[in-house]
Amino acid sequence: MTKRILTFIAGMTAALSMAAEDLPAIANIYARPHQSLNGKWSYIVDPLENGYYDYRLKPMEKTGFFENRKQTSPDQLVEYNFDTSPQMEIPSDWNSKDEQLFMYEGTVWFKRDFRLDRTPGKRYILYFGAVNYEAKVWVNGKKAGEHTGGYTPFNFDITDLVSDGDNFVVVKADDKRAKDNVPTVNMDWWNYGGITRDVLIAELDDTYIADYSISLDGNSTSRISGWIQLNNEIAGKDIILEIPELGISEKCITDSSGQAAFSVRAKPALWSPDNPKLYDIVLRYEDSDIRDMIGFRTISTSGKQILLNGEPVFLKGISIHEEAPFRSGRAWSPEDAATLLGWAKELGCNYVRLAHYPHNEHMVRTAEKLGLMVWSEIPVYWTISWNNPGTYANAENQLTEMIRRDRNRCSVIIWSIANETPHGEARDRFLSSLSLKARELDPSRLISMAMEVTRADNGVNTLDDNMNEYVDIISFNQYVGWYRNTLEEARTMKWVIPYDKPVIISEFGGGAQAGLHGEVNARFTEEYQEELYIRNLEMLDKIDGLAGLSPWILMDFRSPRRQLPYIQDFYNRKGLISDWGLRKKAFFIVQEYYGEKRPETPDDAGK
Ligand code: GCU
Repeated sequence: MTKRILTFIAGMTAALSMAAEDLPAIANIYARPHQSLNGKWSYIVDPLENGYYDYRLKPMEKTGFFENRKQTSPDQLVEYNFDTSPQMEIPSDWNSKDEQLFMYEGTVWFKRDFRLDRTPGKRYILYFGAVNYEAKVWVNGKKAGEHTGGYTPFNFDITDLVSDGDNFVVVKADDKRAKDNVPTVNMDWWNYGGITRDVLIAELDDTYIADYSISLDGNSTSRISGWIQLNNEIAGKDIILEIPELGISEKCITDSSGQAAFSVRAKPALWSPDNPKLYDIVLRYEDSDIRDMIGFRTISTSGKQILLNGEPVFLKGISIHEEAPFRSGRAWSPEDAATLLGWAKELGCNYVRLAHYPHNEHMVRTAEKLGLMVWSEIPVYWTISWNNPGTYANAENQLTEMIRRDRNRCSVIIWSIANETPHGEARDRFLSSLSLKARELDPSRLISMAMEVTRADNGVNTLDDNMNEYVDIISFNQYVGWYRNTLEEARTMKWVIPYDKPVIISEFGGGAQAGLHGEVNARFTEEYQEELYIRNLEMLDKIDGLAGLSPWILMDFRSPRRQLPYIQDFYNRKGLISDWGLRKKAFFIVQEYYGEKRPETPDDAGK
């Protein structure tokens, strides 16, 4: 009996300790008092994970690399040493930072020292913008927590793990692909591993504002509403919402769940690509203030039109991978965001598809400032393990973390739950559940997914996907002139999309090596790509209800599926711009098309 009780208690303790680690990522972390842990981290490459498992593959409780052990006497055996190991600038992916790790997939350990002068009563939160793919984190040798998913933020309350003065954090980052992961084992982008986004420690009061939602009240343009959530379930607490430029100073009071709701009359200037107006807002709780910049807009559909602030809008877009311009590797910084999105603006875009996973927060915030609407996507990509409950839970968690981080970003208008997934009952169950979850988490935005043309015979392309009822926008990828059909056939192609919803072509395009010139029928020449764009734009323009495009893709990006020597060299060359920033001829075809493009309006039909 005793043994069974002890086993049960151990199980509960383990569950509780896991639960204690599970702190939803804090909203708008950059606006909190914090110290950055970006910079040089020591790292140890560990392909057999012997810093975590013993030789019988049992996790080591005390003697793993997370201990950051030092040899204190000549006769002591310690077979690792962070202090004499190489260092890497973080954030970064190890593939582009250490040429021995270019193709490496597995575990790399990272260690960083940091000093802390604690203030009594304060909480200390260790925050990661992302670690690809699985992170285990220890502080001063004690477990802080774990996270799975390579593209969303997470954090741990380390208040009870830190001390005044010197501390250290150790991260076990493991980017091994696995069939049941999200994404699964095959994808057309480089599996950049490591601590790929900002790391920081925030200092917060014992009770603090953990999350909030501030937006127009549904499709009303004369009321701002939302809620503010404390980390503790305390009722009767005053929180002040200030929007000085609108003359708003609204006191709201928390309920028993620690959440304060508000709804105020207001007539803000509406955010749009032509007027990306953002308002300074301040949230005051006791003696702490949180500042943010928030834009107010409505997004909806009506039949085959997308309406921004009630007006038809044509999404003049481009797809973008989180590939760093010029240097390659994982993009992560405000400077990378400014370059990539600056190129999208130069192209004439009012919209970007951030593929195939949530990009870093700087991308979404920079898009707001530049006036770019955003499609944000979770990496439910290709042949996911549709029947695996753990895979679904992982996908739903990444969806939840994506929405939680960006719910206040007016640039985000579309949540995408998948890309090019094979039809089937299990996939339909998986995706319909995800769609319902997205609607539950955020009823204010549009839902979509990149589908595929299901039938193409005798020049008629039909899109027939059960998921049509679970999306607000019918989006699909097509590669006429690259993976199928000829450029000549593009002239007469017909498209059948039997749904009364707006249509976005979420991908089309073809490859070209910047600077390679030749006949228009010669693959990978700029002339071929240019002709492909001319033919595709002519063809797609005829689609009834076409409400937007996001051609594939802004910039060449690394992919392990692109092996053609001297042309691809592990780059997907469908960029309109090369990885070195060279604009290819097709760039100017799209720029011209967008220059003349405006939304279809009902009276256009009569012309
Ligand atoms: C697919 C896929 C992309 C891929 C592209 C290509 O549509 O969605 O991730 O990179 O085609 O083949 O270049």
